[in-house]
Amino acid sequence: MSDRRTFLKSTVAVAAGLALGATNVSAETGPFPSGVVYTAEDPGMWDKKVGSHAPQVSVDGDKLTIETKHPMSADHYIVRHTLVSSDGKVVGYQVFSPDGTPKSTYATPAKGEYFATSFCNLHDFWVTKVTI
Ligand SMILES: [Fe+2]
Repeated sequence: MSDRRTFLKSTVAVAAGLALGATNVSAETGPFPSGVVYTAEDPGMWDKKVGSHAPQVSVDGDKLTIETKHPMSADHYIVRHTLVSSDGKVVGYQVFSPDGTPKSTYATPAKGEYFATSFCNLHDFWVTKVTI
């Protein structure tokens, strides 16, 4: 049943794509939908905000750090970081208050691909893909 649903969804998507024309179907420029998830490579309308919003990831032995170089104030701040594996498991997260520092640390996970996320209350959801 699931395979049939998947097939039907794919068929509808292809048909819709044909109806819209190929240029409308391939509007995404990266692994995420443009204008929904922002990355350093695809910052969309926030192209002047990359340096202060794209999460930066560093690994030092058994410690992985996510940092967003973003000022924090009551009106404008980083709300949350997450570290998610490529198969969708949340490795960890941290919620920040406006007077906090948007830096979070985790135990370095096993080798593989991960997504570090950072959410700004004014400038949306940002992701940096990293390979450890
Ligand atoms: Fe921001």
